[in-house]
Amino acid sequence: MFIIYAHRGASSYCAENTMPSFEMGAKMANGIETDVHITKDGVLVLFHDDILDNVTEKTGRIGDYTWEELKTIPVIGRKDARMTPAPIPTLEEFLIRFGKSGINLALELKDDGIEEAVIDMVEKHCDIENVTITAFERNRIENVLKLRPGFKTGWLITEYNMEGADKICVEKGISEICPKTVTLTKELVDKWHKMGLNVRAWGVFTEDDMKKVVICGADGTTVNFPDKLAAFLKEYNA
Ligand code: G3P
Ligand code: CA
Repeated sequence: MFIIYAHRGASSYCAENTMPSFEMGAKMANGIETDVHITKDGVLVLFHDDILDNVTEKTGRIGDYTWEELKTIPVIGRKDARMTPAPIPTLEEFLIRFGKSGINLALELKDDGIEEAVIDMVEKHCDIENVTITAFERNRIENVLKLRPGFKTGWLITEYNMEGADKICVEKGISEICPKTVTLTKELVDKWHKMGLNVRAWGVFTEDDMKKVVICGADGTTVNFPDKLAAFLKEYNA
């Protein structure tokens, strides 16, 4: 089944990576994607950027704040799309709510060295078959697989089959290749399926991008407007 991952939740409509955004995403999609950082005092939190500046009224690196400090800082959305303010959630709060809800979760590692703590949290709160751990940095994925061989992982790639990414995924046991939508073709998807890889796109910015992912035959994608993709899929599959 195609997995629609509400990207940072339903982030076209709510402040990204907040519980309201995830709740709305869960109503529109069968997956949620989010980003994991660690605070100065070791709390795993859901936030995309390395710095607070773009979506809050504070400045500085998220890793330089303690959880006590961060929990008082509302996320208000990006400058061109302000949203209703909502708090930064912890990974644990998110997993307690969604880890056994049946929805697919894609957790992107945004810091080095958090692999084990994220896995521990997932194992504590989730049906692990519904969780995929992703990263752009291959070493983070490999660290996950060293700790838990067989864990579902996705490597986010930025260019056309970067570094021969497909062969690396097969060799290293990375279950999912995550190409940027602009680089995606039906031929690539077919080739990757034959290699036994799951194909999950990212970088959907327009409705044309979203349609392209489906038409190419991929297994899923992140999208900020999951309601539109759900409506398209219904029509496409009819
Ligand atoms: O689906 C992966 C996507 O979230 C990667 O990009 O920048 O939104 O974390 P980014
Ligand atoms: Ca992400």
